[in-house]
Amino acid sequence: MTKIKRRLFIKQASISTAGLTYLAPTMFLQGCTDKSSAKKFELDFNTIKPISSDDFVLAKGFKSEVFLSKGDILNSAGEMFGSNNDYIACVSLNEKEAIMWVNHEYPNTLFVSGWRYGDKKKNKKQVDLERQSVGGSLVHIKLENGQWKVVKNSKYNRRISGETKIPISAPRELSGSKVAIGTLANCAGGVTPWNTFLTCEENYDNFYGERMADGSTSPSPLMWEKFYKQPPEHYGWVVEVNPKTGESKKLTSLGRFAHESATCVVAKNGKTVVYSGDDRNDQFVYKFVSSELNSLEVGELFVADIKNGKWISLDIEKQPLLKKRFKDQTEVQVNCREAGKILGATPLDRPEDIEVHPKTGEVFIALTNNKKRKNYFGSILKITPHNGDHGSDKMTATDFLIGGETLSCPDNLLFDPVGNLWVCTDISGSSIGKSPYKKFKHNGLFIVPTEGRYAGEAFQVGSAPNDAELTGLCLTPNKDGLFLSVQHPGERSKSLDEPSSHWPDGGSSKPRSSVVRISGEIFTKMWT
Ligand code: FEO
Ligand code: CA
Ligand code: CA
Repeated sequence: MTKIKRRLFIKQASISTAGLTYLAPTMFLQGCTDKSSAKKFELDFNTIKPISSDDFVLAKGFKSEVFLSKGDILNSAGEMFGSNNDYIACVSLNEKEAIMWVNHEYPNTLFVSGWRYGDKKKNKKQVDLERQSVGGSLVHIKLENGQWKVVKNSKYNRRISGETKIPISAPRELSGSKVAIGTLANCAGGVTPWNTFLTCEENYDNFYGERMADGSTSPSPLMWEKFYKQPPEHYGWVVEVNPKTGESKKLTSLGRFAHESATCVVAKNGKTVVYSGDDRNDQFVYKFVSSELNSLEVGELFVADIKNGKWISLDIEKQPLLKKRFKDQTEVQVNCREAGKILGATPLDRPEDIEVHPKTGEVFIALTNNKKRKNYFGSILKITPHNGDHGSDKMTATDFLIGGETLSCPDNLLFDPVGNLWVCTDISGSSIGKSPYKKFKHNGLFIVPTEGRYAGEAFQVGSAPNDAELTGLCLTPNKDGLFLSVQHPGERSKSLDEPSSHWPDGGSSKPRSSVVRISGEIFTKMWT
């Protein structure tokens, strides 16, 4: 649907379901005031204008250092920090130590295996290098002299990769097995209330293809299936990872689709609720409600009907239409897109990251764009659970921010401790600097207040190097700053000799995706 149509039915939903006054999106349109000096508006941070330099740039008052880069050795076994780092999360061991999880979404192949997208030839060695570069890293970090540092060779440092055997938590085998080989396409994620990591398999069909209606497997861009015959049904899940042991499992309970994130929150009855979006044009947002304590293996999956302000159950025993189409609940979980469509779920403009407001409990969803529908700049949708209860099957939805003025293509989100929404943008590499994205220049980091005079206005505080997106925003364990992923700098390089970015090492170096640590006294000022 077009953006206009979507706004219209959101308006209807807001009025019809909860009787709330609809807050017109125009009230939140960005760019209605001069933002050249944040100080003038009594915001407590400085801003930058869009820029196009091959550097990671921050506004005055913020400092950054490269924390971990692709290829860094993690442990005595020689395991390396993987490619294209994305989601970052930390679980504390004590006041001064934590275990960090970092996703490695996909191989930046030219710099991992020497293979270029579209090349018809690929050998097994190349595929092996790529399989080793994805998944995630567990990294022990420690506060030393007031600064977070990596603990080199810690027993906690380990890789989970495209080669790791991972059990599948399901009532039955999937394509003949309950063990998957590897996790891949790890985009965003979440942390459970019992402090395990959730890592989301997003564009899984790029690796081993997708199952077609006739039972065959579609060819994938990365062509891994030429050397390893893995069933597509083993990918597209949320994977739960134990921070201390690395023990992992694929949770079929949360459904299979291009999972962007898995954001956990607790309902009024104490049950764990997980929100997750399917990042594809016209796909849906889902909510899982766990029925067991400290586990996500059993529960009920719902899909959002934004138009009517309700969550639709995907339980085959409650839905005759699903009973007619699918043989069991596992088949529904494997085919969530089809099940959601059958039941009338609301198509959205590529749901990316989801975050829950720390003060209001409202659910913010980045809808990055839907070029097919001529929505080029995206928006941020806000879902308000009925009676403030994430367990309720009723909700209302309104637009919080419409892209196109200050920012475009919102993707990764984070709430800071005082309720400002931090937004990273992801204008695709092939579109950066071109119409209609020219004025935004490189991808950026923005702060959007959610209350007060500037609610819904985006202020830019960071800019990415050539071809890169910024993602994985994460508070440091003691909240003295942020970790952030600078992902795929130089992704559009045509050759190893002439990379299109030299970040972070400069000179004639090859680019390396990296985690940066952002610090500064400014955070004390902003968050206290
Ligand atoms: Fe991996 Fe939808 O971003
Ligand atoms: Ca993303
Ligand atoms: Ca996030």
